[in-house]
Amino acid sequence: MKYTIKQVKKEFLNFFEKNGHTIIKNSSIIPENDDSLLFINAGMAPIKNVFTGQEQPDSKRMCNLQICIRTNDIDSIGDRHHLSSFCMLGSWSVGDYFKKEAVAFAYDLLVNHLKIPKEKLYATVFGGDKTRGLPADTDSGNFWQDMGIAKNHILNCSFEDNFWRMGDGESPCGPCTEVFYDTGDKHGKSYEETGYFDDKKRYIEIWNAGVFMQYLQTEKGTYEKLPFNSVDTGSGIERLVMTLNGYESVYQTEVYAPIINHILANSDKAKDESVRIISDHIKTSVLILNAGIEPSNVKRGYVLRRLLRRAMRHLRNINAKEGLLEELVAKTIDNLIECDIAPEWNYSKDQIVEKVKLEQEKFSKLLENGLKVFEEFVSNKNNITDGKLNSNLVFKLYDTFGFPFEITKELANEHNLSVSEKEFEELFAEHKENSKGDVGKVFKSGLADINDNTIKLHTATHLLHAGLKKFLGQNVNQKGSNITPERLRFDFNFERKMTAEEVQAVEDFVNNIINQKIEICREEMPYDLAKESGAVGLFSSKYGENVSVYTIGSFSKEICSGPHAKNTKDLGRFKITKEESSSAGIRRIKAVLQ
Ligand code: GLY
Repeated sequence: MKYTIKQVKKEFLNFFEKNGHTIIKNSSIIPENDDSLLFINAGMAPIKNVFTGQEQPDSKRMCNLQICIRTNDIDSIGDRHHLSSFCMLGSWSVGDYFKKEAVAFAYDLLVNHLKIPKEKLYATVFGGDKTRGLPADTDSGNFWQDMGIAKNHILNCSFEDNFWRMGDGESPCGPCTEVFYDTGDKHGKSYEETGYFDDKKRYIEIWNAGVFMQYLQTEKGTYEKLPFNSVDTGSGIERLVMTLNGYESVYQTEVYAPIINHILANSDKAKDESVRIISDHIKTSVLILNAGIEPSNVKRGYVLRRLLRRAMRHLRNINAKEGLLEELVAKTIDNLIECDIAPEWNYSKDQIVEKVKLEQEKFSKLLENGLKVFEEFVSNKNNITDGKLNSNLVFKLYDTFGFPFEITKELANEHNLSVSEKEFEELFAEHKENSKGDVGKVFKSGLADINDNTIKLHTATHLLHAGLKKFLGQNVNQKGSNITPERLRFDFNFERKMTAEEVQAVEDFVNNIINQKIEICREEMPYDLAKESGAVGLFSSKYGENVSVYTIGSFSKEICSGPHAKNTKDLGRFKITKEESSSAGIRRIKAVLQ
């Protein structure tokens, strides 16, 4: 039997209603009276004040289905299960039941009602975070075992993976327990065989079965105890339907399949990834346009522009027939209504199609010219330093040719080149001071957000870079970096997956330097002297220009604008949490300080 979106929605809501939950109205995707978010990104976001006691809930037990927009994962779109918009099935206990009942509800719905064999399920729980003073959640793992989930199917995870909050601003938050579904051997080796939990391909998260809200994350990034404990759960219905039906990807669900088929029928060189990106981005654009946002260069309008223009570029890549974009927009609207996702929403179809057409007219000329200019830029070696395209040109493509940063980044990656988001943002801030844009927040990159944690992670990045060079070869170079208060992300050129031994060696190398308590020294010197002294140069500075150089003992010397920690001892313990492919020839490491 095939499950439909409608059936699963009904099953979920009926289940929670029978267990005393009131079905509450869903909200627009635009947050009301809340500047901390660009878009509603979880079912709890519109009701976040009930968890702090500032507002009274309709009931102590609630559930609903909420359309959510998440553009932070935009680089992952095109894989099996990431989407920039999806429908979240949510359920809540506000100061009512807590972990035990939440785990029992999740198990009962998945195993007894939706008939998922328990052997296919894995649960992750929060392993604690000493530096933040947050204890491990040992209860949830025990409750999963009591329900019948085997001990070796329960994993302890980091703050980054299993401590949920709405974003970086003020938000109720807490440790969470997530349920993953094993999609089997054809999607990679098992966790048992490798000791590595491959949540990118084989194990798909189907339900955040409980954020155990006990804290309020403040603007400063501290955690204050909430007056009472609550539970917040969220499950993407597209992933659940994919899993229940044994589909390869979310794109086989009825939300996307008719759109994908229409693209395939109207293109003579359709590539899987492009087709997925097109259908995903058009759907999210329709939802944003329907909420009354227009394409622009700031905030929500810029997210919309970025999605539409990226879809347009991919349509060009697959040689789509003339007029296909408008057809897809109209079809997407019909299909959203057909799927009964948010039936109470009204779509002004003609207006939405018109707005997309207008944006397309603006962009198509720019695209032709911009692509030519891009090719000229990259064919001139002077524009490339250490595999990185000159940031002034990246900015020019944005400013003069209307290329959202992501398009240039994507094009650069296709040429095995990197681009610097941080430098782009700096140029953006310089040139657009008056536009009051919020792009920095949207990109959330580099060290835009400077605080103690990001500074320490930045220093750890230098040590990681040195370790990778030591164990993988001196020709390994940084190709990108993104630091949030929770973790660092580091891209570098390397042709294959690192072995577990190599990952361990690099991790040990960094921790060894941390344990040696080495002072970090900063010096100013002319760029050419810095280069001559062996400093790793990541910026395309001009000869003669003064640059700052950060040295960590004999281990690392980098041209860098900082800021950095004073001493390696401040860093705590360094842990690599992921090593994965980023794009052709580029690997990506995520790491945390514990
Ligand atoms: N609010 C829980 C989640 O989005 O995972």
